[in-house]
Amino acid sequence: MALGGRPRVVLDAVGWALATQLIGLLENGGTFIAYGLLSGEPLLSSTTAVIGRELRIRGVSVGQWAHGRTPELQASDVEFAVKLARKAPELFDVAATYDLTDFQEALAEVGRPGKGRNRPAHHASHPCESKRVMRIGMLGAGQVAQAVARHAVAAGHQVALSNCRGPAFIASVVDRLGPLASAGTPAEAAQAELVLLAVWWTDVPDALAAAGVKDWQGRIVIDATNQFVGNPPNLQAADLGDVPGSEHIASMLPGARVVKAFNTLYAAYIAADPRHPAGRQIVFLAGDDSEANRRVATLVEEFGFAAVNIGGLREGGRLMQLGGPLSGLHALKQD
Ligand SMILES: NC(=O)c1ccc[n+]([C@@H]2O[C@H](COP(=O)([O-])OP(=O)(O)OC[C@H]3O[C@@H](n4cnc5c(N)ncnc54)[C@H](OP(=O)(O)O)[C@@H]3O)[C@@H](O)[C@H]2O)c1
Repeated sequence: MALGGRPRVVLDAVGWALATQLIGLLENGGTFIAYGLLSGEPLLSSTTAVIGRELRIRGVSVGQWAHGRTPELQASDVEFAVKLARKAPELFDVAATYDLTDFQEALAEVGRPGKGRNRPAHHASHPCESKRVMRIGMLGAGQVAQAVARHAVAAGHQVALSNCRGPAFIASVVDRLGPLASAGTPAEAAQAELVLLAVWWTDVPDALAAAGVKDWQGRIVIDATNQFVGNPPNLQAADLGDVPGSEHIASMLPGARVVKAFNTLYAAYIAADPRHPAGRQIVFLAGDDSEANRRVATLVEEFGFAAVNIGGLREGGRLMQLGGPLSGLHALKQD
């Protein structure tokens, strides 16, 4: 993060919604450089963020660079960049460094008047933590899975989607998501270190049978389901007696650390940019394993949401399920 006023140049290696925020931070006449475009999505920016600001847009994509240069030229480019960084550290006027998971905090800091003074040289949410690229498997490739997948690839994670009818039916979805996304079978998706369960309640037994995992061995499964039974317009909440839907799903996932999340929001609000002028869209989450809860919270915060942990699967799940006070509650957290 540069010291002083607003930056004259910003380098965006991710694209999509992040571009909007970075463009907003630039001083007028500044330069926006799109590099890498990992999200594979179009650059997004509102017209008000660019009109009359005399901005310059530059960029190169990793694909362009990789295909347009010989291996020798690529090696010399990398060598040049490393030498430049070593020889001229003043070019990299650093006021503070942030873990990628804390990029929202870094952006807020750049936009703060008088920023960059009296700050420690290094800042990270936890001294031992650094951003890990995750492979996220998705059981389901519908509205919810696609919405979460878009945030995940924008944050640099790999996603493996799966569906009922087979990978060919989601080829265009995967194309739109870009190079970090792939389509496979439920069994392949279920091998990922973190899995999102996003199929209809009545399809859960089939999806899990297709996933074929006998013991999840401590892997995290995010349960985004709602316990709808019946067919539209006669949808009803499944009657599970005293058992909340979250625990019912957990009982079908032996050895998994289940975290209930995303089910309280309509898919359109999961898909949208969660950052609003009044605050960040809240994602409630509930789970019995504090480390799994923390990892899911970190992930959803990386997507730009505000994670609010409301407790264990039993009591939290009850609050979040259909008919619970948090179901359909679209709330913002003021930072
Ligand atoms: N839509 C919302 O606003 C919303 C919001 C929060 C939570 N939820 C909950 O999230 C879950 C998913 O909802 P959605 O709206 O994303 O549904 P959706 O758009 O209808 O997508 C469902 C996906 O599940 C796949 N599927 C069905 N059976 C399967 C199987 N046996 N194995 C693997 N995949 C299978 C479907 O595959 P095909 O494409 O091949 O049919 C489809 O991709 C539901 O439990 C819902 O209640 C929905």
